[in-house]
Amino acid sequence: MKGFGAFVGLIGVVLSAGAAAGQALAPLPPLEPPKKEQVELGKSLFFDPRLSGDGGVSCDSCHDPTTGWGDGKALSTGYPGSEYFRNAQTLLNAAYYKRNYWDGRMAGPDLPTLVRDHLTEAHFMQVDGRLFVERLRQVPEYEQMFQKAFNGEPTFGRTLNGIAAFLKTLTSRNAPIDRYLKGDATALSAEAREGLALFRGKAGCIQCHGGALLTDQKFHALGVPPNQAVFAEPLRHITFRRFFRTLGAPNAENYREDPGLYGVTKDRADWGKFRTASLREVSRTAPYMHNGSLATLEEVVAFYDRGGGQHGNKSPLLRPLNLTESEKRVLVEFLKSLSGDPVVIERPELPDYKPRKLGQN
Ligand code: HEC
Ligand code: HEC
Repeated sequence: MKGFGAFVGLIGVVLSAGAAAGQALAPLPPLEPPKKEQVELGKSLFFDPRLSGDGGVSCDSCHDPTTGWGDGKALSTGYPGSEYFRNAQTLLNAAYYKRNYWDGRMAGPDLPTLVRDHLTEAHFMQVDGRLFVERLRQVPEYEQMFQKAFNGEPTFGRTLNGIAAFLKTLTSRNAPIDRYLKGDATALSAEAREGLALFRGKAGCIQCHGGALLTDQKFHALGVPPNQAVFAEPLRHITFRRFFRTLGAPNAENYREDPGLYGVTKDRADWGKFRTASLREVSRTAPYMHNGSLATLEEVVAFYDRGGGQHGNKSPLLRPLNLTESEKRVLVEFLKSLSGDPVVIERPELPDYKPRKLGQN
């Protein structure tokens, strides 16, 4: 056994000389395909504003297919009358995460619960479950779609499951990196291949952005600069304070930065930590980071080149990288190779209300 330990130790030395440790990159494995009828239903519900309290907000208000399934803004708008304090995440590949949201407060494999959080939360869609179910029951086409998908009438739970099924279809398709990892050496340009070598080696990105999703699915503090709009704009600050008070995080009125995972765990060691974002489709999802404070991939690479930001809890994995200008450029080229064919879905024609005969449903 001693000999084995020494052998493993030797591999460690060899690895650290060549490349930063981290999970090897891998092609994205397919998800188990959801039922077609549930996806069709989920797609309509996704685009339907009748799922929000005021009938004016739908999922695509903040997750628009034409802006990478985010909203293209640094900070998300919230439900009318409020503003949110974080960036609206892309939905591409969201179904692969072990934990969802920037602070991981939702358990990943439980997408229906995440959808419920979105529908009912004051800052997202603020709807009463019974209200929107009554609305759906007054739309004959929905009655038929629920029958086909779930053998039953519209209910809260079936709505959640339908949208969750749709979310599972929003995945990377035919990305150059996947073709490359499956053996097609020409799928990446020479520059992107140089960028990949830096990603695995000198730049050390793979320490946190490894595996098929290009994330370790863990939480780290990088010292991303706070977005001052959260403290300067009253509507955002109100949402921010209400949010952390609801989580029971102490002294929320004194926070001058987003404490991230700490708000969920209340463990000082988690202050300022956020979930490592997947880098798949990243060329489509600007601006970057939990608060959208970095506008472009060039800015992101410059941020890491400086060794990240100033933060008491900063990850020891970040250090100045001393990248040359051409190294920064090829690293960005590599990041662009992580996007596949655009996932474009046309907004479906939404079925209308039809008054019911008295006594029906
Ligand atoms: C008012 C804006 C808004 C609306 C409407 C909205 N979202 Fe979101 N969504 C966000 C924001 C902001 C986040 C990130 C929240 C956080 O980290 O605190 C998010 C996160 C998510 C995530 C997690 C992604 C990940 O990487 O973990 C999923 C999935 C999601 N939304 C799906 C939906 C669905 C489905 C709907 C419709 C039922 C919806 N959203 C409606 C703003 C919105
Ligand atoms: C210590 C772990 C760690 C290392 C090393 C690391 N990252 Fe990250 N990365 C993260 C975390 C955590 C986030 C989310 C941070 C946040 O939102 O505040 C992130 C976010 C990003 C984003 C933004 C994604 C989005 O959708 O907003 C990009 C791009 C990125 N990293 C690229 C890189 C590159 C390129 C490198 C190497 C130069 C690198 N990262 C090294 C942990 C790391």
